[in-house]
Amino acid sequence: MSLVDLNDVVKHYGQHTVLNGVSLTVAKGEIVAIIGRSGSGKSTLLRCVDGLEPIQGGTISFDGTVINDLGMDLRKLRQHVGIVFQSFNLFPHLSVEENITLAPNVVKRVPLAEARRLAETVLQKVGQAEKIDAYPNQLSGGQQQCVAIARSLAMSPQLMLFDDPELVGEVPKLLEEMARDGMTMILVTHEIGFARQIADRVAFMHQGRIWEEGPAAATLARPRTPELETFLSAVSLH
Ligand SMILES: Nc1ncnc2c1ncn2[C@@H]1O[C@H](COP(=O)(O)OP(=O)(O)OP(=O)(O)O)[C@@H](O)[C@H]1O
Ligand SMILES: [Mg+2]
Repeated sequence: MSLVDLNDVVKHYGQHTVLNGVSLTVAKGEIVAIIGRSGSGKSTLLRCVDGLEPIQGGTISFDGTVINDLGMDLRKLRQHVGIVFQSFNLFPHLSVEENITLAPNVVKRVPLAEARRLAETVLQKVGQAEKIDAYPNQLSGGQQQCVAIARSLAMSPQLMLFDDPELVGEVPKLLEEMARDGMTMILVTHEIGFARQIADRVAFMHQGRIWEEGPAAATLARPRTPELETFLSAVSLH
């Protein structure tokens, strides 16, 4: 059963077509890595899946419900979808604990005492229990990212979206643990080696389209299109 279903999605910014007929299905428990050149539409795709951007064509379904219908309650959708960006994740003026308890408390009306226990649990899970009273600027980049992931986990999401997370410190291990726990993930990454290791499938975006997709190892080892081949040889030079 698919959790996310994009069907011929079209997204324009003004005259500029950024997603030009993207179709992608992600099954429950599946991990899909999205790779591609800068500007190919990877972040835009994730933002559309999280309902942060309106689309101009096609459909996006989450767990069997079309989310781009007018009147769809996007706040409800976002309770089920966690999104972690590369930076600017945490509220700088709030402690780690407050960063984590905010959404459960405000959106799900979890009482504060219970939200605090939840914060302890998710921080334990990401290995940052001792940072509960710290402020974001007192944490390393990797620690901040772990806390951002903990904050998403506190909402018990069904789907996690990662927009090119910096794979430093404990972050790769944490993502692998989440994968083993059966979390469904769409991961934009420029780290091809990590994509090969963690993903079930890889989708290569080019000019606003999914140019090529398939099982991770085979797709990366034997590209079928010259565009993916060129992309892979360019990244392997870095
Ligand atoms: N808010 C916006 N307004 C106008 N154009 C935008 C906006 N956001 C993105 N774009 C354009 O859409 C295209 C795709 O951008 P997107 O951020 O999805 O690329 P990306 O594949 O994530 O690139 P990168 O690897 O650099 O993060 C780019 O040409 C970008 O300039
Ligand atoms: Mg991007």
